[in-house]
Amino acid sequence: MNPKKKSAYTVPTLKDFSAAGLDKEVAKLRAAIDEESKAVSTENEWKIFRDRWMARKNGILTQVNDLWLKAAPKDAKRDVGQRVNTIIIPHVETTAKDTHDHWKNIAILKKARAEGVDTQIDEARRALELSQRLDITLPGIRRPLGSEHPIIKTMNEMVGVFRNLGYSVEEGPEIETDYYNFEALNFPPNHPARDTQDTLFIANQESKPLRDRLLLRTHTSPVQIRTMEKMKPPVRVVCPGKVHRNDAPDATHSPIFHQIEGLAVDTNITFSDLKGTLDHAMKEMFGSSVKTRFYPSFFPFTEPSADVQISCIFCGGRGYRDGGPCRNCKASGWIELLGCGMVDPNVYGFVDYDVKKVSGFAFGMGVERIAILKYGVDDIQLFFNGDVRFLEQFA
Ligand code: PHE
Repeated sequence: MNPKKKSAYTVPTLKDFSAAGLDKEVAKLRAAIDEESKAVSTENEWKIFRDRWMARKNGILTQVNDLWLKAAPKDAKRDVGQRVNTIIIPHVETTAKDTHDHWKNIAILKKARAEGVDTQIDEARRALELSQRLDITLPGIRRPLGSEHPIIKTMNEMVGVFRNLGYSVEEGPEIETDYYNFEALNFPPNHPARDTQDTLFIANQESKPLRDRLLLRTHTSPVQIRTMEKMKPPVRVVCPGKVHRNDAPDATHSPIFHQIEGLAVDTNITFSDLKGTLDHAMKEMFGSSVKTRFYPSFFPFTEPSADVQISCIFCGGRGYRDGGPCRNCKASGWIELLGCGMVDPNVYGFVDYDVKKVSGFAFGMGVERIAILKYGVDDIQLFFNGDVRFLEQFA
């Protein structure tokens, strides 16, 4: 609205100083400045606008002060003063500032037009329109939610299966000593069984006694020893964690991977308990129709030892699929999944358990291997590359 027009806002003298009366006048004043500010589009118009509202001498604010505040009866002064200070002055000041920004933007637009930069104009106009309109019904900015990594998810699922059987969870360090990774697990110094572990050793450890030398743990079995050192039997624990081996990365190998260790030590624990426990765990993990098979093997810290195989979940254990040999089990009908055995009595000697009184079993399984089978992933590297397109499929 042009302030020079007849209908331009003027500050009325007040007769009604009641709260409702004051609010009505405040609203009229606000409507007036909002309306007038819209017409401002040049610096000159803005100056006129600013002086009309804010000039010390006879600007509208000054008039409000004289005609409303000073003229108010004593008992209404507080009400008027409160409205002037908290509503009218702040509103006039912000409107003046916003209007200033507005004509500046318009000036930029005009300049851009003069320079013939059309897209710039459009963009600036859009930004201007957006900044002036706040649509509170628009949806907010949505931040993408994170989710569990498939390896962690598989690990938690597996741990959950054993928690339901009464197992608790133990963890150990990834940087281990020779003692826990090897010696206490019945791998004597220089024994060839150590070669199977493809160990990554930490440099410059030669000045220490062998048992104290540091390495990256090659399996979670050291946590068996750490657990038995601090707990007396009965023991039932699972130990999830990261392990390292000197393997070149390819579709089925990674120098970093994860294992879940299991250990149960009590009186009268037998190989049947081991079989029953792992058969149950595999059925929980892969479905109740899966079968297990225990195949003779060797580990220094278990005797007897076994590799556990499950019936191939791709061909149902038949060995052939879609009229040809099953690639997943190399037509054997079985997939090897984990190592296990009865705890070797020598191990109890290292942790001060009474060999004559206790017996137990241990097992260790690769988490990536289980996840690969469960989700039909064809390259272990996908778990470590951090490609969100892969990872979000497991959310
Ligand atoms: N630690 C063994 C490995 O990584 C697996 C295992 C664990 C075997 C417990 C037997 C008992 O190869």
